[in-house]
Amino acid sequence: LFDLSTVASVGKDVFVDSWVNITRPHLVSIGSHTAIDWGFHCTVAATIGDYVHIGPFVTAIGGAEGRLTLGHFAAVAAGVRLICGGDEHAGYGLVGPTIPERFQDRLILAPITLEPMASVLTNAVIMPGVTVSIGSVVGAGSIVTKTTRPWTMYLGSPARPVKERPRERMLAHAAELGYEID
Ligand SMILES: CC(C)(COP(=O)(O)OP(=O)(O)OC[C@H]1O[C@@H](n2cnc3c(N)ncnc32)[C@H](O)[C@@H]1OP(=O)(O)O)[C@@H](O)C(=O)NCCC(=O)NCCS
Repeated sequence: LFDLSTVASVGKDVFVDSWVNITRPHLVSIGSHTAIDWGFHCTVAATIGDYVHIGPFVTAIGGAEGRLTLGHFAAVAAGVRLICGGDEHAGYGLVGPTIPERFQDRLILAPITLEPMASVLTNAVIMPGVTVSIGSVVGAGSIVTKTTRPWTMYLGSPARPVKERPRERMLAHAAELGYEID
């Protein structure tokens, strides 16, 4: 398994698979009852809450200045891309990490937050600066460019709100586990 002694802080009952690439573990904190599956590639500073699941082959990209927050009970399904930063690709400069500094592109860098009980489903892409608000759901393959409304399901590219997600049972279950959320 992954060497949990390398991260900034970690709770109890945490599973991190052996083949993950957390490039800046000293910038990563992990809560309790959280599982991170095979193939997680994370270059950013991350604060990961309790009862979070990160499915296989998730990417959190943006480098040392990238910021990712995953609230309690957040779910990140297989293959999700969390783009906390990257080149602008709009003609300002040449693109990529090997370009000499004076020829480089501008960077887009803005934190991504999944609030508590947000779900981002398989192969969705979350753009820089987006907050997936409390309890909201992003459907498979959707591309999210703007902050979502709480307890609302978003589908498509660009992701659009399609329906409300009932919150009562989820909040009641969390309360029984000792988490007052909302
Ligand atoms: C978000 C999700 C759960 C919604 O499921 P749902 O509420 O049952 O939605 P439905 O299947 O009833 O579809 C409702 C409508 O949205 C469309 N739709 C469903 N999922 C969609 C998606 N990901 N993107 C775009 N449109 C979608 C359907 O075609 C349907 O359109 P229609 O009304 O024109 O027929 C489901 O789309 C999803 O993304 N599942 C992925 C699950 C997953 O990733 N699990 C974790 C694996 S690690």
